[in-house]
Amino acid sequence: MNSTETVREELLARIQSSENPHEVMRSVELKQLAGELQSLPVEQRADAGRALNELKQALLAAINERETALADQSVEPIDVTAPWDANGKQPELLPTEFGTQHPLTVELERIVDIFTRMGFEAHESRQLDDDWNMFGALNFPEGHPARDGYDTFRTEEGLIPPAHTSTMQNRVLVEGKAQLEAGGQIAGISYGRCFRNEDIDATHEHTFYQVEGVFVSKDANLAQMLGVLRAFYQEYFGQQLNIKTQPAYFPFVEPGLEFMIEKPSVLGSKGGDWLEVLGCGMIHPNVLQAAGIDPTEYRGFAWGGGVERIVMLKYGIEDIRHFESGKLAFLRKFA
Ligand code: FA5
Repeated sequence: MNSTETVREELLARIQSSENPHEVMRSVELKQLAGELQSLPVEQRADAGRALNELKQALLAAINERETALADQSVEPIDVTAPWDANGKQPELLPTEFGTQHPLTVELERIVDIFTRMGFEAHESRQLDDDWNMFGALNFPEGHPARDGYDTFRTEEGLIPPAHTSTMQNRVLVEGKAQLEAGGQIAGISYGRCFRNEDIDATHEHTFYQVEGVFVSKDANLAQMLGVLRAFYQEYFGQQLNIKTQPAYFPFVEPGLEFMIEKPSVLGSKGGDWLEVLGCGMIHPNVLQAAGIDPTEYRGFAWGGGVERIVMLKYGIEDIRHFESGKLAFLRKFA
């Protein structure tokens, strides 16, 4: 065995047992081999040089393998699909007793709870949807200017992060159709994040939450809708409230309304301060038809409102941007 081969075996073995295998490239043995090269007769130098290079390549490959194995050993496998506390060591890593729920999560749960108690079934909306649910099923004809009014983002594949929770209307209607035809009603709410390519200011975010309601029966009407909405806001603010509406245009309702509440007196208002809190109206016959529901037999109403703005009102928060800012000083006020 010549010296290159002896060194190869010795160094490969060292790599296998080393915590820092790259050190082998700076070993005395390799330096010696390089030195010996200089003292060889010229005609042997080329072969010996080639052998030394091959040796270095083999060592580097072995080092690479060893480093990967070392890295694998030091990373504990994580089950990314597991629920929050299922990996056993969570309590040490995350002192959850010091954390709190985000104020929007807490308020959203309150809102969903009120509607659930009123008999509405809750659905979480999607964070990525398609053109049909954002526009087609909602009576926005192809090329209609109202499509531009929503300042939607789009992915390169043409999918849409929903600009409102109305994207859930068709799904809720289709899902409830059988129940309706069996003599029942459709009563659903959808809640979740919405995204708009907005100019951001104290009352406009690019990412915000909405809650949407859909009700269909043989004789649904606007008076019922106003009753449901007033009952909701009175429960949320914990006091009697005055309400009013004014006409508004949304392609998916006819007639369409803006719903307003008088600023609650518990929040220091002396009356006369009106706040527009949501859009609503009777579901357009084309929207019912798009879900396979006969508009000559059934009628429905729908509404959709923002979450942040009523939470801001309730807690006197002056700027919507606090919610997504991640500022602990803000979050701790709700701890
Ligand atoms: C809609 O989004 C309609 N989909 C509502 C609707 C549903 C009408 C069903 C009829 C039937 P609008 O764009 O007005 O409507 O938004 C509704 C509410 O979402 C607003 O009143 C506001 O509370 C909230 N909102 C809208 N844009 C923003 C934003 N950029 N930041 C925070 N809240 C917003």
